[in-house]
Amino acid sequence: MKKQFDPQSFPRAVWLILGIVLAILVEFVDYITGPEIAFNIFYVLVIIYFVWYVGYRTGYVIAVLLSSASITINALTGHTYYSDLNNFVWSVAVRMALYLVIVVLAGRVHQALKKEAENNLKLKKANEEILALANVKSHFTAMVSHELRTPLTAIRESIRLVHGEMMGALNPEQKKFLGMAERNINRLTRLINDILDFSKLESGKRKFHFQEDDLNTLLQDSAKVYEPLALKSGLSIEIECDLSIPKLFFDADALSQVINNLLSNALKFTEKGSVAVGTRMKGPFVEIYVRDTGLGIEQKNIPRLFHAFEQVTLRDGKRPEGTGLGLAISKQIVDQHGGEIVVESEVGKGTTILVRLPLQAKLHCVEEIE
Ligand SMILES: Nc1ncnc2c1ncn2[C@@H]1O[C@H](COP(=O)(O)OP(=O)(O)O)[C@@H](O)[C@H]1O
Ligand SMILES: [Mg+2]
Repeated sequence: MKKQFDPQSFPRAVWLILGIVLAILVEFVDYITGPEIAFNIFYVLVIIYFVWYVGYRTGYVIAVLLSSASITINALTGHTYYSDLNNFVWSVAVRMALYLVIVVLAGRVHQALKKEAENNLKLKKANEEILALANVKSHFTAMVSHELRTPLTAIRESIRLVHGEMMGALNPEQKKFLGMAERNINRLTRLINDILDFSKLESGKRKFHFQEDDLNTLLQDSAKVYEPLALKSGLSIEIECDLSIPKLFFDADALSQVINNLLSNALKFTEKGSVAVGTRMKGPFVEIYVRDTGLGIEQKNIPRLFHAFEQVTLRDGKRPEGTGLGLAISKQIVDQHGGEIVVESEVGKGTTILVRLPLQAKLHCVEEIE
């Protein structure tokens, strides 16, 4: 790597010697050019140099020395004004004051810039550390989840076979305990899948496959999957699709994951009434909505819903089953489609979750495919 020039790495003595040489040079040129030329600017530059590279305090010393020296040189080169001692002393005093003010100003600017550079460096380091940590975290979660998933699949399948009496009949006690094991293994599998999904989305590693497709079909398929669960809870799922919506470009697997999560939430937090899913046009968006007549969400909690692991609605005073990752995953997926998720809710009345997909996403996605 090419090494960058860093003035700070020079020893101060080098800057001091260079500065003295520069000051002598300026004095010399001032002397040979005579009193006519407005030479103050060069003295000022020398003072700024000292403040910048040698130090604030040395700047004061140099300001005092140079103001005396410059007036002396003017006197020596025949400026008649200085033949009067009074004039001479006043001139030294005024010039000294001017140079000292320059030292103060240059010093302030230098310190402010130095502080800013230090802060920037600190921020950069902190940022790098955060990025490195995020990377470790996402690697760790992905690795752990993968390692857990493989044996878990084997355990789940074995339990499913035995519990399903494929390996022979079970007595009621055995069936009860294996049923419990199966439910918990399924729960664990969902948790691991959610964590894996979330960490993949967060690290940008999830690949999306956009294709032109029909949103209504996707919605109807999901509703069908959840119908038995709804019936079991005494609820109905109403499908209200607008058949005139255009086809859109989207990743069907990813969007069905979103709709499934919204439906499962709606069913989970609704005790009586119904759940409705539908599509409609809404300005430049196609809107998917999932509406329930459930417990509702307090306004103050709505922004938290999309944070990972946040569960805000209690069912019978207890934390509901789930990971609190569903909406965080859904939001990331909808973001990747250039869309947005909006929550409208009233405690005791119900919740409507709106997923808005932009119509122009069509163009954006086509470009991505090509
Ligand atoms: N339809 C809904 N009605 C009431 N609360 C909801 C609804 N959908 C989501 N929530 C709240 O948002 C939280 C987060 O949802 P989600 O991210 O899907 O996680 P999970 O379903 O695993 O709890 C839920 O735990 C619940 O508190
Ligand atoms: Mg959920």
